[in-house]
Amino acid sequence: MTKKKSGTYQPPSDRVVIFDTTLRDGEQAPGAGMTIPEKIQIAHKLAELGVDVIEAGFPISSPGQAETVQRIVTEIDGPVICALSRATPGDVQAAGEALLNRGHTRIHTFIATSDIHLQSKFGEDRYGKTLEEKRETVLKMSIEAVQLAKSFTDDVEFSAEDAGRTGDEFLCEVIQAVIDAGATTINLPDTTGYCFPSEYAAIFETVFTHCTIPKHVVFSTHCHDDLGFAVANSIVGVTAGARQIECTINGIGERAGNAALEEVVMALRVREDRLGLKTGINTRLLMRTSKLVSTFCGFVVPPNKAIVGSNAFGHEAGIHQDGVLKMRETYEIMRAEDVGQETESIRLGRHSGRHGLFNRLEKLGILIPENTREKVYGDFVKLADRKKEINDIDLFNLVNEHSAPVNTPHYELVHMEVSVGTDKKPKAVVRIKHLRTGQVEEKTGTGDGPIDALFRAIDHAVNEAHDLINYSIRSISEGADAFGEVSVLITIGGPCFAGKASSTDVVFASAEAYLNALNSLASFRADEESIQFVNDGIMQAFQGGVA
Ligand code: KIV
Ligand code: ZN
Repeated sequence: MTKKKSGTYQPPSDRVVIFDTTLRDGEQAPGAGMTIPEKIQIAHKLAELGVDVIEAGFPISSPGQAETVQRIVTEIDGPVICALSRATPGDVQAAGEALLNRGHTRIHTFIATSDIHLQSKFGEDRYGKTLEEKRETVLKMSIEAVQLAKSFTDDVEFSAEDAGRTGDEFLCEVIQAVIDAGATTINLPDTTGYCFPSEYAAIFETVFTHCTIPKHVVFSTHCHDDLGFAVANSIVGVTAGARQIECTINGIGERAGNAALEEVVMALRVREDRLGLKTGINTRLLMRTSKLVSTFCGFVVPPNKAIVGSNAFGHEAGIHQDGVLKMRETYEIMRAEDVGQETESIRLGRHSGRHGLFNRLEKLGILIPENTREKVYGDFVKLADRKKEINDIDLFNLVNEHSAPVNTPHYELVHMEVSVGTDKKPKAVVRIKHLRTGQVEEKTGTGDGPIDALFRAIDHAVNEAHDLINYSIRSISEGADAFGEVSVLITIGGPCFAGKASSTDVVFASAEAYLNALNSLASFRADEESIQFVNDGIMQAFQGGVA
């Protein structure tokens, strides 16, 4: 590759833009699906935390995603709200429309650039027969997508998907072309988490050396954690000159996840001496944001997780305790308070009043609408009768039960009974209401265990057999009367559907989780026709545009 000019690129400032993609890439983590009301609460929390950009969703992918973007752009003030699109006219159009021409918004359009992606995803001859022809198609699609996105908003981000495995020459050609077409942020994702830090930094250096980059253009990192380098790679990216980091709370995301927001932010803060870079994050809110996301997506934060794990500031060994007591800095490089790891001195229990409850919920960043406050308080009192002390996780679960579900439910559990014994096969009886017709079906099931019997009975009642791909149960609070959260994943040949529910009664939670998954399946079927219609539109537009 010939060198066009010597690397003169100067990053626009020392401020690193924090681009949060918890609601998009984060939610792509298997089993991390969140409801729209949950996502809205998270978006509020992210705005409070001080993220610069919220990637709110991928509007073309489903009506629910489009609605999420519309609601976030309408309800959230502060951060730039971004919508994702592939580099096709239909996708860009859907992203632009979901952003409603309101406030400061961004369209983030992406297309694969590596040979391996070109050969597989663009394998069909209509994209070109040779690799060279496929590259031409991708280049044309990239330019056209950026140009179309510019008709909706000035703020357009372009991602060269799998940049980490893309050859230098083609990468630079695409990046130069999209900059010339008006892209204002250029993202170089390590989509597969393949790069070593030195390799990832070299990609930025190559682009900076070979492309002509106007001052206002910002470069971005987007790192996956398949080899455990996501945070390290994000940091070397900004050291090389990137000024945006794409990351997620708790590092959730596709496969092994994305770079964890709390880790990159604290790395920049703690090592400001070395890097001289700043973010706009209020780090004291990291812990609360982490808890909110963990509760809503159902992924437990491991105790040893950096920054937000419960042990991250704990000292067990006597020698450490002694050192910390004499001088905190002996074993701690940052203060627990600075990331919001505070111990709550006020305990909530049956004697707590409304003030105590709503005050704590507010501290946790949970906003309760006026019209549901009494109901939430009533449920809190009932729970406090059963449980001596109510902790934050109990509160999240309590409030979660008041969020409206995303989809219109199709089935409702009216009644269930499960019997087990040492000398008889577990048996379950359920009554399920079919909400479309109002009909109630009572059915019986037997199985290897009580849950198996229960799920079989439900299958009979909805008149369909489902494959249970995964069933897991975890305790999400402490004590014998703890909340159990059940997650199920079902399929009926084809896509999988997840359901989640929590209760102090895990058999009941299992039935609810299974029904939630069935409700998603039923809603998917109802949406399928409209999605197919949209997809056909994309393909027609594509064929008309570039083939
Ligand atoms: O990992 C990736 O390449 C992505 C793109 C859509 C930016 O998530
Ligand atoms: Zn990604």
